Amino acid sequence: MLNRTAGLRDVMPHVISIRDFSRDEIDRILDRAAELEPIAHGGSSDLLAGRILATLFHEPSTRTRLSFDAAMKRLGGSVIDFGSIEGSAVSKGENLADTIAVVSGYADAIVLRHPKEGAARMASEFSRVPIINAGDGAGQHPTQTLLDLYTIRKESTLDRVKIAIVGDLKYGRTVHSLVYALSLYNAEIHLVSPDQLKVPESLTNDLSESGTRITETTDLDEVIDYVDVMYLTRIQKERFPDPNEYRTVAGSYRITEETLKRVKDDLIIMHPLPRVDEIDYGVDSSRHAVYFKQSFYGVPVRMAILSMVMGDGTAATGGW
Ligand code: NCD
Repeated sequence: MLNRTAGLRDVMPHVISIRDFSRDEIDRILDRAAELEPIAHGGSSDLLAGRILATLFHEPSTRTRLSFDAAMKRLGGSVIDFGSIEGSAVSKGENLADTIAVVSGYADAIVLRHPKEGAARMASEFSRVPIINAGDGAGQHPTQTLLDLYTIRKESTLDRVKIAIVGDLKYGRTVHSLVYALSLYNAEIHLVSPDQLKVPESLTNDLSESGTRITETTDLDEVIDYVDVMYLTRIQKERFPDPNEYRTVAGSYRITEETLKRVKDDLIIMHPLPRVDEIDYGVDSSRHAVYFKQSFYGVPVRMAILSMVMGDGTAATGGW
């Protein structure tokens, strides 16, 4: 079920957590992204002409910020952005609730990235327009998950996919969102991480209760020749309370051309990016590497999200 706030608009869905979406709703977003993908390849449309998107990034971003920007502009809309934290009133001590109350008077939807888990949910309580969570601390990153699912659907097979998710599973918000979504697609999930960076126990408990097939290991070799998808992640240095602890796990997994000799012919390698040292540059030209395509798919998927959230007609007619 999506969050809806009746009264302010006919339909006002926020995009806060992937757990708010059913498989049917996700499929409809992915279908809509497929319809819009030709526009992402250099086209334009007036679907969101006259609409304004506000992007508020309280943490660094390249792909998420720019692909939302590109998606909005390809659909004929415009984007306002508060720039760096230092250049905004946040540096004067303005709290998030006030920023959101103000910006929701300037825009038709707000994309928010914030270091605190739960920030997007809180923001949705103060906003008069849809809030799209672009990452809340180590919490969730639902739009990344939608583009990850779109990538798997296009480049492999989503239903019953066998996937290894590798790296920082404790702090990686893309992972937290992705595993919940994969459980809707009967996936077989192999979690590979150092012991200190295992997924939160609450998450494995939820997944086991839902009957999802899931294993945990520290050794990538155990699953490397078996899976259809390898989803690598960066160790989230900025979220470690103790830098010494980071140093003990940095560089834990690294995919090289040598590693590829042991994988299935049709394995795809994904990464939400940025990479640090998880994937050697030599792997980029292999047929397995889809991570740059994956980041491109952020544009059609975010077009679909924006068009549905801002009511291009599909939401009002049951587009969700
Ligand atoms: C991810 C994030 O911000 O969580 N980046 C992204 O949005 N593509 C992953 C990361 O920073 O490691």
